Amino acid sequence: MLTTKQKTLRKFWYATIRLDALADGPKPFRLMGEDIVLFLDAEGKPAAMADRCCHRTAKLSKGWMDNGNIVCGYHGWTYDRTGALVRIPQFAADSVLPKHNVESYFCEARYGYAWVALDEPLSPIPDVPEDSDPNYRRIFQFYDVWNCAPLRLMENSFDNAHFSFVHKATFGNINAPKPKKYEIEETEYGFFATTVIDILNPPIAHQVTGTTEPMTERRMRNHWYLPFARRLDMEYPSGIRHIIINSATPIDDNRIQLVQLLYRNDTEADCPTEKLIEWDKAIIDEDRDVLESTSPDAILDVSRRIEQHMPSDRPGMIMRRRLLELLKKHDEAEVTNVYV
Ligand code: FES
Ligand SMILES: [Fe+2]
Repeated sequence: MLTTKQKTLRKFWYATIRLDALADGPKPFRLMGEDIVLFLDAEGKPAAMADRCCHRTAKLSKGWMDNGNIVCGYHGWTYDRTGALVRIPQFAADSVLPKHNVESYFCEARYGYAWVALDEPLSPIPDVPEDSDPNYRRIFQFYDVWNCAPLRLMENSFDNAHFSFVHKATFGNINAPKPKKYEIEETEYGFFATTVIDILNPPIAHQVTGTTEPMTERRMRNHWYLPFARRLDMEYPSGIRHIIINSATPIDDNRIQLVQLLYRNDTEADCPTEKLIEWDKAIIDEDRDVLESTSPDAILDVSRRIEQHMPSDRPGMIMRRRLLELLKKHDEAEVTNVYV
């Protein structure tokens, strides 16, 4: 089955478009196979609705804004943030409008992005306390389309066995392939996983880690948020925290919009933004290369997976079990194999 067929996955928040990208007018986005339009209302709050005018089906994202309402570029029909039709320019100003509306979606501003849930959300947008902590800076790190399924990125996040291979050109040590174990505590929203790993620290990473030692360690306190969000919270012995927040926003069945934010408790003088982007891009490009080679067919039925024999795959197994439980709970009980 396909991600877009899993109706339950519509009930979660996904980061879509930067708020500042909406300042000059409406923008299109594709979420779980639905074409949506995003815009800022009169109060500057983001709104999302189907990208389809109910008059003659033109895409509303080709239109423009008028006092916080969106105007279709074809004949000027105008809608408010709830999708209700509020003006037909061809009608006399005092005439009663027909009751037409475009389907609207849940939309909230958070961490510089418009987050959207297509149906009433089952859980809140993941909390990032550092976003309002003056000791941290926020960096908009990446916003890229990846040709892979979102569960592939999530399972990769908690897979300590890939470092020595996928990341052998950056921080992974090919000579130490035995992975460190994660301690996992399941939570209502997913799980909390902790571990400490040894990493290579080449000169290019010195400002990132805050040390010039050839090797250092990362204390990882990571969270997985059902279904496709993660927090990778890394702390180095220098005291530097490097906290990555991702939404693997499903565009359709085999593409994600990878949204990556970075929070650091240091300053631009300690480590310039461009260095942080350069280093993490080198790492994430290694992941991307291998993940785009994977099949989107991530089987949820854990008994059918060979990887259950490798202890380091336990986080991915828990993800599959939790996803399967979630789908069953919401009447998608027949699902055993999902493209996610
Ligand atoms: S198609 Fe939108 S106003 Fe006619
Ligand atoms: Fe990786």
